[in-house]
Amino acid sequence: MPTPVDIAPARGKLGVLLVGLGAVSTTTIAGVCAIRKGIAKPIGSLTQMGTVRLGKRTEGRSPRISDVVPLASLDDLVFGGWDIFQDDCFAAARTAGVIEPALLEQVRPDLEKIRPWPAVFDQRYVKRLDGPNVKKGKNKKDLAEQVVADIRRFKADNGLDRMVMVWCGSTEVFMTESPAHQTIDAFERALESSDPSIPSSMVYAYAAIREGIPYANAAPNLTADVPALVELAARTAAPLAGKDLKTGQTLLKTIIAPGLKARLLGVSGWYSTNILGNRDGEVLDDPESFKTKEESKKSALEYIFQPHLYPDLYADLCHVVRINYYPPRGDNKEGWDNIDLIGWLGYPMQLKINFLCRDSILAAPIVLDSVLLLDLAKRAGMAGIQEWLSFYYKSPMHAPEVYPEHDLFIQLMKLKNTLRYMQGEELITHLGREYYD
Ligand SMILES: NC(=O)c1ccc[n+]([C@@H]2O[C@H](COP(=O)([O-])OP(=O)(O)OC[C@H]3O[C@@H](n4cnc5c(N)ncnc54)[C@H](O)[C@@H]3O)[C@@H](O)[C@H]2O)c1
Repeated sequence: MPTPVDIAPARGKLGVLLVGLGAVSTTTIAGVCAIRKGIAKPIGSLTQMGTVRLGKRTEGRSPRISDVVPLASLDDLVFGGWDIFQDDCFAAARTAGVIEPALLEQVRPDLEKIRPWPAVFDQRYVKRLDGPNVKKGKNKKDLAEQVVADIRRFKADNGLDRMVMVWCGSTEVFMTESPAHQTIDAFERALESSDPSIPSSMVYAYAAIREGIPYANAAPNLTADVPALVELAARTAAPLAGKDLKTGQTLLKTIIAPGLKARLLGVSGWYSTNILGNRDGEVLDDPESFKTKEESKKSALEYIFQPHLYPDLYADLCHVVRINYYPPRGDNKEGWDNIDLIGWLGYPMQLKINFLCRDSILAAPIVLDSVLLLDLAKRAGMAGIQEWLSFYYKSPMHAPEVYPEHDLFIQLMKLKNTLRYMQGEELITHLGREYYD
């Protein structure tokens, strides 16, 4: 048997630092509070409901994931966060309009206690928003130190043992790597000089990672996915995950595309359009924020279909993604996909998907799982990019020498094999010759 990884126990309280108390954050917090009270179920969460098969199929061992690895209990989570608006978490959840008022009332006292700390914010990076609850500082380094001070105060006030940070803030404008992102020194100099290539999200990420706190990015912004912050994470032993929660349309894409490819069905076109009416939709109505989202949404098919290996099937794929801001729908997004398929002898076929989803209802279990699994990674001494958490993300962070894995089923196998590896269990290859020998 392989040797298990040494994992520190999940003792004491785990602080969950959420940047942005909008729809995703408040749905996560209200959900956890409701689940703790036993009035709702954690549907969609692998850490709360998933099982993992151990050993051979004949052994009949499929324990819950939470019985295999030591995860923090929901009762030990303490939430805190930043937002540019002053609304407490109850008021913010009401504005988001995801959770029904009747359920929200039942967790009201827990939510009202959570008041956002002043944010690091600059409208240059999120054009459609502005709010009053914003920090002032002499430069971005000073702002990062203020975030560190918030984190330390939160830890002391709540007697926390450990923390995890998740960026649940708005999607920032599209940015690419610049020289300031290449090394820790260059990055810190850029903070001092308030270099424009350091958006607000990077200021928070730097603060968390410098403190050795695990960090996840629910949005598609570059944020921690630059060499300087990956290097800092290695130095401070902070695990990283991201980017952009895989919910809604992209989740379906990464379920369906691997199936079409497995049967070698060609795809000449994939047209995706969405209507969305929440604040996220409003921010994405700005072309510069949309560009960040578009890049994130478009990459999955390219990697799954591997047109360089299957030119007859996918080389000419026309992939279009649209998001239209349509206020009447609020958080209840509607997505349409038209897929133009090619079968035997080149005969065309079509597949239409109409997904009426609830964006934040799909996102909340992913935020919870990311928090619990990043905390596990930290206690297991696993620093830097956690590729096994790609399962949850549209643009998975990955080592520079490998392509990102987008196929949901390969991602799940990787995640479960990582749990087996941590516990010193045999990895499952699905070869299964032994049953027929
Ligand atoms: N809902 C989903 O299913 C989903 C899926 C994938 C990714 N995302 C991404 O997650 C993020 C959050 O989504 P949402 O639906 O909760 O959006 P939202 O607009 O409801 O919430 C975002 C919150 O972040 C705050 N904010 C913006 N910049 C900030 C800053 N610098 N500091 C502190 N707070 C800041 C905003 O004021 C807002 O309250 C978005 O970037 C979105 O693209 C959401």
